[in-house]
Amino acid sequence: MVVALLSLSATISVFASGQQASGQQASGDKNSKRIKLGFLVKMPEEPWFQEEWRFAQQAADKYGFDLIKIGTPDGDKVLAAIDNLGAQGAKGFVICTPDVRLGPAIISRAEQYKMKVFSVDDQFVGPDGKFMSVPYMGLSAKKIGNMVGSGLYDEMKNRNWDLSNVGAMAVTFDELNTVKERTDGATEALLKAGFPESKIFRAPEKTTDVPGSFAAADVLLTQHPEIKKWLVFSVNDEGVLGAVRALENRGFKAPDIIGIGIGAGSGAIEFKKPEVTGFFAFVCISPYRHGFETTELLYKWVTEGVQPPMDIRTDGILVTRANYIEVFKKLGLEDSLK
Ligand code: GLA
Repeated sequence: MVVALLSLSATISVFASGQQASGQQASGDKNSKRIKLGFLVKMPEEPWFQEEWRFAQQAADKYGFDLIKIGTPDGDKVLAAIDNLGAQGAKGFVICTPDVRLGPAIISRAEQYKMKVFSVDDQFVGPDGKFMSVPYMGLSAKKIGNMVGSGLYDEMKNRNWDLSNVGAMAVTFDELNTVKERTDGATEALLKAGFPESKIFRAPEKTTDVPGSFAAADVLLTQHPEIKKWLVFSVNDEGVLGAVRALENRGFKAPDIIGIGIGAGSGAIEFKKPEVTGFFAFVCISPYRHGFETTELLYKWVTEGVQPPMDIRTDGILVTRANYIEVFKKLGLEDSLK
């Protein structure tokens, strides 16, 4: 518990300073016997990535290696981080890259230092536009999207909405396959349930965070004043929260919004607020698997030569205000409720 708190505060200090945090026992000495592994994430301020780091640290504590956590929001920072890891004698790293097309550059830089690479969340794309053959753990994105779409439709029925003035907003980021699959999956489920295609509107966001979504949703809302009730879905919790904030900003109230996110952090923070908002539910995904398990697989690859599976897909569970605490406890996520 104390360890968890300490590692969380170490993590938070990284966001404050924008600098690197290393495992508590990191010696920084290239000749140290302890194994060092890195965990690089594209958006260190996003609760999802904080949770991945927290669980990765648990793997480091269990196996007794040093974990070096670095926020890498762009390509230059990724390459600098790999050099940094190389200088410290790290044997490999897990990475959620800020841009999937950096894949070839990441692999070649890692090879210079003989480091092993495990990709998480966002899958590397090669110069031919195809996914690269690098161990990967990501979401069962289409299936999770389907859950979002079905959840939206069910709640709309539950509220007895008159379809004539309802629209569905997809805050999208199609450059990234895993997120395109999520919004496509939600769209597919809505259409299958009978929601009209002409009422599904796409709002492309420039960044997959709350401000990116707010801006994208705001443009769409200006274009569609005829829509009085909205279903909202997106890449992640942040994408739905940004759109819900844009709707609130224009006077829409919670009963006229049904937003369903995907995540394991920002949605729970929203649910902790006493007032009910348009953020109705989220598909709770597993930062334990994406943080602990990826790091454990990398550790075994580095130390025992066990080749990790090349493509692991993880599931999610739809949660609302009514059951998220219970589900978080079941998934071992209760620390993130504090
Ligand atoms: C992408 C998204 C994140 C998170 C992860 C989960 O990286 O940008 O917000 O949803 O996928 O795999």
